[in-house]
Amino acid sequence: MKRTLVTSALPYANGPIHIGHLAGAYLPADIYTRYKRLKGEDVIHICGTDEHGVAITIAAEKEGVTPRELADRYYEIIKKGFEGLGIIFDNFSRTSKPVHHRVSREFFLRIYEKGYIERKDTEQFYCPKCKRFLPDRYVIGTCPYCGNPSARGDQCEACGRWLEPVQLINPRCAICGSIPELRKTFHYYFKLGMLEERLRSWLEEKKDWKANVRNTALSWVKEGLQDRAITRDLEWGVKVPLEEAEGKVLYVWFDAPIGYISSTIEWAEMKGDPDLWKKYWLDPETYLVHFIGKDNIVFHAIVWPAMLMAHGDFVLPSQIPANEFLNLMGDKISTSRGWALWVHELLEEFPPDYIRFGIASILPETKDADFDLREFRVRVNSELADNIGNFVNRTLSFIKNYMRDRIPHRREFGPQEKELLSKIEKTADEIAGYLESFQMRKALRAVLDLSTLGNQYFDGKKPWATRKNDEEETARTLYTCTLLVKSLSVLMEPFLPFSAEKIRNMLGIEEKLSWEDAKSTEIPSGAPLGELKILYRKLEESRIEDMIQGLIRKARGKAPEGEKGTEEVMEETKKVSIDEFRKLDIRIGKIVEAEKVEGTKKLLKLRVDMGEKTITLVAGIAEYYRPEEIIGFEIPVIYNLEPAKIRGIESQGMLLAAVEDGKVVLLSPREEVKPGTRVS
Ligand code: MF3
Ligand code: ZN
Repeated sequence: MKRTLVTSALPYANGPIHIGHLAGAYLPADIYTRYKRLKGEDVIHICGTDEHGVAITIAAEKEGVTPRELADRYYEIIKKGFEGLGIIFDNFSRTSKPVHHRVSREFFLRIYEKGYIERKDTEQFYCPKCKRFLPDRYVIGTCPYCGNPSARGDQCEACGRWLEPVQLINPRCAICGSIPELRKTFHYYFKLGMLEERLRSWLEEKKDWKANVRNTALSWVKEGLQDRAITRDLEWGVKVPLEEAEGKVLYVWFDAPIGYISSTIEWAEMKGDPDLWKKYWLDPETYLVHFIGKDNIVFHAIVWPAMLMAHGDFVLPSQIPANEFLNLMGDKISTSRGWALWVHELLEEFPPDYIRFGIASILPETKDADFDLREFRVRVNSELADNIGNFVNRTLSFIKNYMRDRIPHRREFGPQEKELLSKIEKTADEIAGYLESFQMRKALRAVLDLSTLGNQYFDGKKPWATRKNDEEETARTLYTCTLLVKSLSVLMEPFLPFSAEKIRNMLGIEEKLSWEDAKSTEIPSGAPLGELKILYRKLEESRIEDMIQGLIRKARGKAPEGEKGTEEVMEETKKVSIDEFRKLDIRIGKIVEAEKVEGTKKLLKLRVDMGEKTITLVAGIAEYYRPEEIIGFEIPVIYNLEPAKIRGIESQGMLLAAVEDGKVVLLSPREEVKPGTRVS
């Protein structure tokens, strides 16, 4: 292998990026690329936004803007989020760019001419009420394979299969819920069946792939591959390059992966070396790695390789290290339910390395994982602050305070030093091995364990005691600790690039370090340290609890932003029966006391007179109302909600309020009523 071409799944430009996306593709891809770069290898990381398809048009319709406007906005938001997190791309392009349209059309024509594409008359769903065709996500129904009742027209989110809309059982229009009718049209079909044998033997050979990726792909190939329509009757997308195909565009999953190529071409053009992309895509010595989440397996491990095989010029994927799903606080992430942590929000709360660390340490590499904010805090405090931060800070402060702020000169190493140094060398190789095989979590664990050894060494050598009578020994200890600090700055860089740089600044190292430098026993002896800074501050419990409350409130008020997909449309069309509604006991209460919940920004503790008794409510309204101004307000309360403990206070119901773009507005009856009056 001469060079590595890393790609991350092109995110849809229909919403910002959340932690699930990060854990699926972008963070592991960045860790991997940074590692390769430290190794001095030829590597590029290519990405861009996926701007076509029904995911975009539905979101645009809901927001009342054009697909172009929507994509323009989210392109910027997504790009900024990645930058804030230190996720580096050599190029972050967009599939709406002319270069992408050109390359996609050429791709289509090439495999059309080679006989892999066939025009067929077919039927597609049409909604008589909305008066429109219903491609892909515009129609929902039951998955014929796994029975998931909210499968989309093109893919079932539950089992991951690629579907044709007409396969859905009990199809409904995603916009209005009506039963669609079938209308005649024609489409262009990709003859996947022609490549079935080749795909199967290609996959059989991929013994070094993650088991879940290879097994899933192989089992679908063994189910038999059907010809699939790769065009749609839509305005927005890459126009099909055939005269007879007026009004048709390429199916988004046909054009999007071609974005990996077009983005590389654009990168080469921007570098002023327009042929540079060819060495990555045409030379079989390229190691092509696609980072994706597991919902993209079918497209990357079957459809895309088939497209590449049909085309014939390009390299095939070498690795597809798909990750499983990330949950949030024990619940599935759902953008439509507002149950998500967004990158731009997290960046307002935490330094980027905390976020990277929090996710890297629980990456769903072999099974689904859960991001729990409380565990996140504990891990940041114990591993970043008390382990790495402590080791770096105690070493460097010692030098500053007791060694005239200069890195000590090298001394003869004793047995303890030799042991630690060989451990560093071994660990560096071990981490490299883990990263090469996409085991990011284990690699990170090894970095942390090395830092633990550093702390143990420091404790064992007691430099605070030896400095009083054994200068030689003290210098030996601190030289060795400084070496380890430098090594850590290299080994942690793929995970914690911002801290790695901070450490090197404190060490006064200006040049770029390489992976090999993690093993070298040289440091700039005699050089003064840079300005010392606390590496990591501990996270306070109250901040985390506030965030959790904010999350819950937002989920209750529904997400003000983010992807609004089929799921939300479904929820909107889903009706509740009158019996279900009657289960809620909603009554009017009168606020008689209000005070801030100590240590929080957002919470008020209310005492509310409900007529028969007075109850306590904890409500996230402190940013919008002062306690004294709401005494005497009458508010609707869900009276029979299970009590919940919030910041140690039992909340015995929930007040109902209007939530407008995250801002809370209290509601009250138009005329005063008796406390306890029922709302029905
Ligand atoms: N936009 C798709 C998603 O978010 C991923 C596209 S990956 C590519 O699921 F290969 F098509 F680019
Ligand atoms: Zn299914």
